[in-house]
Amino acid sequence: MSEHQIHEHDVLIIGAGGAGLRAAIAASAEGATVGVVCKSLLGKAHTVMAEGGVAAAIGNVDDRDNWRVHFADTMRGGQYLNNWRMAELHAKEAPDTVRELEAWGALFDRTDDGRILQRNFGGHAYPRLAHVGDRTGLEMIRTLQDYGVHQGMDVHMECTVITLLEDGERVVGALAYDREKGHLKVFHAKAVVLATGGIGKAFKITSNSWEYTGDGHTLAYDAGAELIDMEFIQFHPTGMMWPPSVRGILVTEGVRGEGGVLRNANGHRFMFDDIPPLYVSSTADSEDEGWRYTQGDRDARRPPELLTRDHVARCIVREIKEGRGSPHGGVFLDISWIKERMPKAAEHIKKKLPSMYHQFKRLADLDITEQPMEVGPTTHYVMGGVRVDADTQMSTVPGLFAAGECAAGLHGANRLGGNSLSDLLVFGNRAGVHAARFAKERGAGTINDAQVEEAGRATLAPFERVGGEGPYQIQNALQDMMQDQVGIVRTGEDMQRALDGIQQLRDRAQRVSVNGNRVYNPGWHTALDLHSLLTVAEAVARSAITRKESRGAHFREDHPEKDESEGNLNTVITKHPDGSMALTREPKREMPAELRAIIEEMK
Ligand code: FUM
Repeated sequence: MSEHQIHEHDVLIIGAGGAGLRAAIAASAEGATVGVVCKSLLGKAHTVMAEGGVAAAIGNVDDRDNWRVHFADTMRGGQYLNNWRMAELHAKEAPDTVRELEAWGALFDRTDDGRILQRNFGGHAYPRLAHVGDRTGLEMIRTLQDYGVHQGMDVHMECTVITLLEDGERVVGALAYDREKGHLKVFHAKAVVLATGGIGKAFKITSNSWEYTGDGHTLAYDAGAELIDMEFIQFHPTGMMWPPSVRGILVTEGVRGEGGVLRNANGHRFMFDDIPPLYVSSTADSEDEGWRYTQGDRDARRPPELLTRDHVARCIVREIKEGRGSPHGGVFLDISWIKERMPKAAEHIKKKLPSMYHQFKRLADLDITEQPMEVGPTTHYVMGGVRVDADTQMSTVPGLFAAGECAAGLHGANRLGGNSLSDLLVFGNRAGVHAARFAKERGAGTINDAQVEEAGRATLAPFERVGGEGPYQIQNALQDMMQDQVGIVRTGEDMQRALDGIQQLRDRAQRVSVNGNRVYNPGWHTALDLHSLLTVAEAVARSAITRKESRGAHFREDHPEKDESEGNLNTVITKHPDGSMALTREPKREMPAELRAIIEEMK
């Protein structure tokens, strides 16, 4: 047997972002013992990159808002491919989860009369995003972490899970290694919750940091769970462009929510040029009306910069491709212009967007209260992921739950900004509750020593191979390929080339070797990440080739229109017994009449 440490928990949570922490709190409240594994340090999670706010129809700023409008907006944003039950639960439960967070200590910005303030964001009919300046995700993580550690949980930091351990069909634990010493760890658990976030590191330009290599997606897939709708990757319209070392870092949509406008190199506000039919009636047709909307005029319509992210990102790409881009290959995002309309605009910007102010000052030597920013699309979020039951968040594998970005369903073909934070609160909670109940009902399973032994051997294999290629070349080649061939604008031909390329990279990854020893060895860790990166990249490329239409975040130049026969189908990925990736299409479950009626009414 390879040497390993053993840890036991009723519920093991893999990932310590908002979903993982919310699940830990819920499982602990159900009486379960909880272990939380995080790939880096507690508190460092992509959750902090949802800066502009958490979407919840509290109706503090506009009392016309309610769960039904939020439900309809979420479905429309997702181009009706969403799991309607998740969208319903999310819209109904989000307000209470935000109030609960406040009760646990989150300090939201306030309205003049002291209630939680809400701001405008793309695709939301009313100001709906409860926020803390532009640091909402950070405040959420801080609150959940403080509250969670007092509820009781064991935290295993700098620990990466390699494989889930199975007893028959059921998941009963995980094998991991700790980054600091390189020890192997076996976790026995009665239920496991995946909350590992996204897959941004499969692309070259991303707002995601190094941890987001699709681990949860891959662990679930390898354990026999289904992944759905992996073709839908969200490219956030505004990432930093310059200097090169910071390219892709998020520039919050909150900038546009506060009145920031997009212009091309000619100073033209190009977002007015192309309004999708679905949004014509709700979009401002003059600069003045758009500005009035951001200032809370209930009768004004939203500015075109607040259309859904997929559309804004594509308009930006069009400007760049047609030669009207900024000097470093993006477009201009300008909030400084509000000086023309508002006294003390600089103070206002610094108060509402403090992180953006400091981010540009420190990283780009640019004062956003005086100058426009250069921005361009950045890979931000994956809508596809582990198929889960809407109410319990259990995957198709017994004992394996998933919540947050690595789970799929809520967002359909495209996520609205701010819905990620409410997603992880609502469904992190549900996953924690139901994992704890599963653990209580089913008790412990048996760990298969042979599986541990084999996984341990595979984990250490890169040290055994001598003279092979290093892992970074393969990682870089994959990121370049996904960016260029499976990016914002796709064609079948490009994606087929990428798929062939992924198979070649898989062969190369089998031969990767690393030097040194197991103590804090980033080369080894990157070698181990390759399996996940290649798995999610293949799932994205296969799914995107199959969907021969354009919908939401998936845009095909060779099939630029929506195809209603495809709009009813989810793409399902599973692991074939021979180890190859299998893809099927499945019709969506029919929506109940009362929810259909809400959508009709809101149209
Ligand atoms: O732009 C943002 O602040 C990101 C929010 C989100 O992804 O939900």
